[in-house]
Amino acid sequence: MKRITLTTLQEMKKAGEKFTCLTAYDSSFAALLDAAGVEVLLVGDSLGMVIQGQESTLPVTLDEMIYHTRCVARGCRRALLMADMPFLSDVDPRQAVSNAGRLMKEGGAQMVKLEGGAMQLETVRRLAGQGIPVCAHLGLQPQSVHKLGGYRVQGRDQESARRIHDDALALQDAGADLLLLECVPASLAARIRDALRIPVIGIGAGPDCDAQVLVLYDMLGITPGKRPRFSHDFLSDPEAGPTDVAGAVRRYVEAVKSGAFPASRHCF
Ligand code: KIV
Repeated sequence: MKRITLTTLQEMKKAGEKFTCLTAYDSSFAALLDAAGVEVLLVGDSLGMVIQGQESTLPVTLDEMIYHTRCVARGCRRALLMADMPFLSDVDPRQAVSNAGRLMKEGGAQMVKLEGGAMQLETVRRLAGQGIPVCAHLGLQPQSVHKLGGYRVQGRDQESARRIHDDALALQDAGADLLLLECVPASLAARIRDALRIPVIGIGAGPDCDAQVLVLYDMLGITPGKRPRFSHDFLSDPEAGPTDVAGAVRRYVEAVKSGAFPASRHCF
């Protein structure tokens, strides 16, 4: 079994072949997602909400991220393993290198993801300079939920769309290897995808991204409360009929690869 690397993902972008990403927080789910063909497993700081029951991702600590990354690494054989830099662990570039190093050395992550635009350029340069693969995260940044006044679609007006577009190019130039775009209009995501060499992973960013990501518990329909518009319950989809958890994940993989997901009702 050949391991998925950044080169694999770059080649898939060039070939116009979509890849998939899902969040994972433990070894059993990691093994199941890996076997279903998911190319990237993300140990998201969404674990603060779906595992710990917190109201936001802000309380998640670096030690908790390392613990869950280590659990996921044990179940992950083929997929690329990416871990989130938790809130404020990436502000000081030197500290960010040391924190990312812990996620890799102690957790077994192969890549880190961090939220933020222009203010993260120096951190991204430092991480890239140390050979640490980076996924930048733009659009809705859940770690800024209090500043944003809620979980809202970003880049709807011309000025903020231009800022996201410019930040994406600047982050790529600083050394980011992937870009994750969360909750932005599909037309903006398509423009950014076309402008970048690096693969773009979307969540609530329309069908024209190089890849899609969802929070695992959302796509299995087990997150309490209202499911976000951009997600889909692949486990109990009345149109597709009954299946099990592995079947739901395979359905997600097929739907992303065929372009059936996201549909227009999932987009902004
Ligand atoms: O923490 C998370 O789960 C994320 C999402 C964008 C998938 O970053």
